[in-house]
Amino acid sequence: MAEHTEAEVTIEEREYPEEIFLEDARYQNLMMQYRCAILELETKFHVLNSEFSLRHNRNPIESIKTRLKSPHSIVEKMRRKGWELSPESIERNLSDVAGVRVICSFPEDIYSLATLLTRQDDIVVVGIKDYIANPKPNGYRSLHLILGIPIFLSGGKKHMRAEVQFRTIAMDFWASLEHKLKYKQDIENAESIAEELKACADTICQVDYRMQEIRRIIDPGRVGPEEDEEQKVSESIWWEKRAADIAREE
Ligand code: GTP
Ligand code: MG
Repeated sequence: MAEHTEAEVTIEEREYPEEIFLEDARYQNLMMQYRCAILELETKFHVLNSEFSLRHNRNPIESIKTRLKSPHSIVEKMRRKGWELSPESIERNLSDVAGVRVICSFPEDIYSLATLLTRQDDIVVVGIKDYIANPKPNGYRSLHLILGIPIFLSGGKKHMRAEVQFRTIAMDFWASLEHKLKYKQDIENAESIAEELKACADTICQVDYRMQEIRRIIDPGRVGPEEDEEQKVSESIWWEKRAADIAREE
C-alpha cells in the first residue's frame, strides 16, 4: 500500500480540517459525550413536561429541538476566535456544541421550566442570558442558559456544557425568519426589513403576554390560584437571585 502523506499536513493547512472528526477517535469520543448530554437534557424536559401537565392539565412544552454543532461549524468558530483546534480546547472554549431549544406555549412557562430545571441538584448553571427581559436591539427574544450536565460513562461522571434556548412559539417563528435575513448577502432594503422585523418582534411580544392573560382567565389549571400565585412569586425571587449570583461570578 502506498504511504500516506496526509498525516504530515497540519490541521491548519488542511482544506477540510473538519474531517479530523471522522478520523480521530478523540473527537468522536467528545462528540459522543455531547450527544449524551443532549439525551440527558431531553429526558429531563420530558419528565418536567409530564409532571407539569398532570398538575396543570396542559403541556408547557410545545416542542424540543436538539442539535449537535457540526464539525464544519466547530472548526469555523474555533478559527474565527483564534482558538487552537483540539478536543480539549473545544471543551474549554465552546458552550454551544450541544444545543437544546425548548419551544414553550407561553412566556411564563419558560421561567417555570428554567427554574425547575436549574433547581435540580445535578445541574450546574454556568451562565444565563435573559433576552426576554432584555431583548437584543434587533428584537430577538429568548432565554439562554449555559448549563453543565452530568453524564455517566464507564470511567465515571463528567459534566458537559450545553446551551439551552427557551422561546415561545411566536419568538421561534420570528427568530427563524430573522435568521434567514442574517445570512442573505445581496438583499435589497435590508435596513427597512430589519426595522419591520423589530416592529414584528414587539408586536409578537405583546401578543404572547395577551394570550397568556387569556389563558389564565379561561383555564386557571388544576392547582388552586393561591398555590399558583405563591409558586410564581417564589420562582421569580429565586430566578432574580440566581441571575445576580451568576453576574457576580462572571
Ligand atoms: P455566538 O458566538 O454566536 O454563540 O454568540 P454568543 O456566545 O454571544 O451567544 P448568544 O447567547 O448571544 O447567542 C447564541 C445563539 O442564540 C445563536 O447561535 C442563535 O442561535 C441565537 N441568537 C442569538 N441572537 C440572535 C439573533 O439576533 N437572531 C436570531 N435569529 N438568533 C439569535
Ligand atoms: Mg453561543
